[in-house]
Amino acid sequence: MKLSIAKICLPCLLLLTLTTSAIAQNPSGREVTLIDDGWHFAFGHSHDTGKDFNHGTAYFSYLAKTGNGDGPAAAAFDDRAWRLLNLPHDWAVEQSFSEAGSFSHGFKTAGKGFPDKSIGWYRRKISIPETDLGRIISLKFDGVFRDSKVWFNGHYLGNEPSGYDGFEYDVSAYVNYGGENTIAVRVDASMEEGWFYEGAGIYRHVYVQKTNPLHVKTNGTYITTDIKNGYANIKAQVAIENWSNDNNGGDVEIVSTIVDPQGKEISTKQIILAPKPFNISLSDSEIRINTPLLWDIENPNLYRLITQIKKEGKIVDTYETTFGIRSIRFDPEEGFFLNGKHLKLKGTNNHQDHAGVGTALPDELQYFRIKKLKEMGSNAYRCSHHPPTPELLEACDRLGMLVIDETRLMGITDLHLGAVKRMIERDRNHPSVFCWSVGNEEWAIEGNIMGERITNTMQGYAKSIDPTRPVTVGISSGFRSGISSVVEVMGYNYLGNGDIDAHRNQFKQQPGMGTEEGSTFATRGIYVTDDAKHYQAAYDRKPRPSFYSIEEGWKFYATRPYLAGMFIWTGFDYRGEPTPYGWPSVTSYFGMMDVCGFPKDNVYYLKSWWGSEPVLHLLPHWNWQGMEGKEIDVWAYSNCDEVELFLNKKSLGKKMMEQYGHLEWKVAYQPGTLEAVGYKNGKRILTDIRKTTGKPEKIKLTSHRQTLDKANGVAVFNVEVTDKNGLHIPTATNEVTFSIKGGTIIGVGNGDPTSLENDKFIDAIALVNITGLQEQALTTVNLPQQLPSYPKNNWTEAFKDRDYKNLAPAYVYRGQFELASLSATNVVTFFYQKVGVDAVIFVNGKKVNSAKDDAQKYILSADMLKQGINTLNIIATPVHKVKDWDVINANPGVVQVITPADQWKRKLFSGYAQVIVQADGSGKDIVLSATAKDVKAATLTLSVK
Ligand code: GAL
Repeated sequence: MKLSIAKICLPCLLLLTLTTSAIAQNPSGREVTLIDDGWHFAFGHSHDTGKDFNHGTAYFSYLAKTGNGDGPAAAAFDDRAWRLLNLPHDWAVEQSFSEAGSFSHGFKTAGKGFPDKSIGWYRRKISIPETDLGRIISLKFDGVFRDSKVWFNGHYLGNEPSGYDGFEYDVSAYVNYGGENTIAVRVDASMEEGWFYEGAGIYRHVYVQKTNPLHVKTNGTYITTDIKNGYANIKAQVAIENWSNDNNGGDVEIVSTIVDPQGKEISTKQIILAPKPFNISLSDSEIRINTPLLWDIENPNLYRLITQIKKEGKIVDTYETTFGIRSIRFDPEEGFFLNGKHLKLKGTNNHQDHAGVGTALPDELQYFRIKKLKEMGSNAYRCSHHPPTPELLEACDRLGMLVIDETRLMGITDLHLGAVKRMIERDRNHPSVFCWSVGNEEWAIEGNIMGERITNTMQGYAKSIDPTRPVTVGISSGFRSGISSVVEVMGYNYLGNGDIDAHRNQFKQQPGMGTEEGSTFATRGIYVTDDAKHYQAAYDRKPRPSFYSIEEGWKFYATRPYLAGMFIWTGFDYRGEPTPYGWPSVTSYFGMMDVCGFPKDNVYYLKSWWGSEPVLHLLPHWNWQGMEGKEIDVWAYSNCDEVELFLNKKSLGKKMMEQYGHLEWKVAYQPGTLEAVGYKNGKRILTDIRKTTGKPEKIKLTSHRQTLDKANGVAVFNVEVTDKNGLHIPTATNEVTFSIKGGTIIGVGNGDPTSLENDKFIDAIALVNITGLQEQALTTVNLPQQLPSYPKNNWTEAFKDRDYKNLAPAYVYRGQFELASLSATNVVTFFYQKVGVDAVIFVNGKKVNSAKDDAQKYILSADMLKQGINTLNIIATPVHKVKDWDVINANPGVVQVITPADQWKRKLFSGYAQVIVQADGSGKDIVLSATAKDVKAATLTLSVK
C-alpha cells in the first residue's frame, strides 16, 4: 500500500482490515456462489394492484426514495406462505393449455392475455458475513423472461427488459453485513419478445459474486489465437477494474497462466499502473504455445487462461476463462474452413425449450440435446433468435459444435447495440462461436436502404468488439438489396424466398450460408397425414409450394461449394408456432426430433449424408392392422450403395441409392417382417427390420445415464411398452403413471404436438387474503380459550384512526376469508402476522394452535373450515408505538391453501414418453417406477454419487 497511514481515516482503516481478512479467507479474492435454491414465489398481477400485493402504492415508493421498495419489494415483507422452489423456473410450462392462449407460446395459460399469470414475484434471503465488508458484492442473473425489476433490502437496483440478456447489479452499499439480506425480483412476462415459446420467470441461473474492488471486469477477458506453423500465439486482453475511490496508483501485476488440456501450465507476467477510481485499465499479454491441440468438431480441446491480479505481492483476484485454439475462415468460392480445413456446415436452428421443463433447462439437458444433434451428424447450431444461456455454449465448446450466436432485435440505439455488446463480450471466448448474427427476417427493413444502414452500424459495431468473427443476418426477402447488399456473410432463409444463384452471381465476393432451410412438417411415428387429428406424415415431402424438403434443401447446399452449408429449421420441435395447424396443436412440427429429442425419420436421412457411419433406416413401422393388401409407402434412408427390401423373406427388389437421396417402394401390407439389406461395394453391410408386434405386455424404462451427481444430476428416462417378445410397440398410447424415490420428477413429455396433458404435476398454492377486518376494544386483558360473544353492533373498521396514546388493554379483531372450494386433500394454513403482542386465534369459533416449527403459523384442520366464507377472530394485546412515525402492522396475515398434485403421468405417443428426473441432494439412489393398466409395471434404479 503506497498510502501513508497518516492519510487513512479510521473507517478506511477498518475497511482495509476487513478487506484483507476477507481475502485471507478467499485467497483467490473472488467468490461466485450459485443461489438457485430456496426462492419463494408467488403470482402478482399486471393491473390489479391489490393482487400485486399493493406494490408501488406507498406514499414514498421505490422510485421516490431509495430503499423504499414496497409490497414484496420491501425486505420485511412476509413471504412465508409463498411457494418454495429452486431455479431455473418457468411458470408458463406449469400452466394448463387454452385456446385463448398465445399461438406463439404454445397456448399456455400464462403471459400475454393472462394478467394473473403474467407477473411473478421471487424472493430469497442471503446472509453475508461481516468479513465481506469492503468487497464488491453483486448479483448476477443469466437471464430472466422478462422485464425484471430487482430490489435488494428494499433498494431498487434496476430494470432489465430483455428476456435473453444477462445482467448484474452491484449491491455492496446496500448489504446488511453480518446479517440477513433480501433479494426481491418482479418478473413481467405479459409481453412476448419472440414468436415462439419463451417461458416465464427466472429461467436461468442466479449467482452472488464477491470480489476485491480491484478485479477483472465482468466478461473482461478477450482471448484471440493465431495459429502458425507448429505453434500458436495466444493474445489475452484483460480489463482490470478499480471499483473504488482508491486513487493511490501503484503497480498491478497481472499473471496470465495458460493451462493446456493435459493440465500443463505456462505463465507470463505484466505490470500495469493501477486503474483510476471507477475506471478500467487494459493489460495485453501474448503467450506462445508449441504444437497446440486445436479445438475442432471431433476433438474439442479446451485450454484455460487463469488471470491473477496481484497488488503489493498479494493476489486480489483470480479469474478463469475457457478458450480454444482454432481458426475460422469464410471463402466466397469455397465455403467455410475450420483450422484451414474445409468444413461444410451441417446445422440446425433451435429455440431453447424442452419437453416437461419449458425454458428452465437443467444444465445436463443442454448436453443431452447437443449430443443428440451431434449423433445426427450435425456440426453447427444457430441460436434462433436470441443469445442462449451460457451453459448451452459451454456444452457446444465441450462437445464440439459450432454456433451462430444471435441477438434479438435489429436497431442502432443503446437498446440494440447494448445487447450486441453484452452478447459479444460474454461469448467471444467460446471457441464454438464462429459467427455473430445481428438479425433475422426483419421484414420491415431487410430489402431496403434502412436495413442497409442498420446492418452497417450493427456489423461495424460488432466488429469493433470482436474483429475475429464474421457477421451474418438471416434474410427472407430481397436477396439483392438492403441488408443482403452489405452483410458480411449472407444468411439465406429458404430457397423459396429468392434466387440464391442469381444473388451469388451478383455478389461474388460475399460468402453465404443457408441460415434457415427446410421448414418441413412431421409428426414423429405417424405416416398418414390426417388434418382432423393434426397429424403430418413423417415422410420428408415438400411441405408447402414455396418450401423445400430436407432432401431438396441439402441437395442444393451440398452441391454448391460456394455455400458454406445450411441450418435446418429446426433440430428439435419447440412449443408454439404449431404451423400448419393451430389449436389444439401446441408445439411445432418442424423438428428433426420432437420436443423430447425422440428422432423423427428425417434424423436418419441426415445421419446418412451428414454423418460418417454406414446408415440404413426403414420407415414406416409395420403395424398396419386392417390395412392388409393395401399399398404402404416404404422408404429407406441410407448411405449404402444399394438397398434390397424383403417382406417376409421375399425380395421386393434392390435399388441403387442416389447421392443425397432416399429409396422408395410401394408395398402391399401383410403383417410380418419387413427387412432392408444395405450393400456397399457389393457386400452386405447392414440390415434394418420392422416387425409387426403383438399387444402391449410390459413397460420398459431406460435412462440416458446410469449414475447421477448427488447435487444436481439429471436423468432422462425413456418410457415404452413391449410385446411378449420384447419388441417395442411403435403405435402404443398407454397412459403410464410414475412414482419416484430418492429424486424429483421435473417434467414429462411425449412429443405429441396435440397433447394437452400436464407437463408438470406440482401442488397448487392459493393465497387467500383476510378481508373486512373489524375490531372492538376490550376493557381487560383476557386471552380466552373459548371465543366469547361480543356485542353485535360494536364492530368498527380495524386500526382506523386509532389513538396510540390511549390504547385499550386488548382488542378483538374479526375478518373473513373465502375458500372457493374445499376438499379433503387440501392443506390449509394461516400465516399470522402480529397485530398484537400476545394473541389467541379462532377460526369459525374454534381456537387454533400454532405449528411446532413456527409460532406464527396455524394449520387449520378440515373440521373447523367450510367452503365459502370463514370467520377469523384474533384477540390480542396491542402493539405500542415507540416513536410517532412507527408504522404498526394492520395486516393479520394470509391463508394458504395447498391442493396436492395428482400423480405424475403421461400417455405414450407413437410408442414413447419421457420423464426427466433430478437428484434431490439426499444422495439416495433414484428409483423410478412406472405402472399402466393391463401391462406389467417397471422399475429402474439409478445410483447417485
Ligand atoms: C422463419 C422464421 C423462423 C420460423 C420459421 C417457421 O421465417 O425465421 O423463426 O418462424 O419461419 O417457418
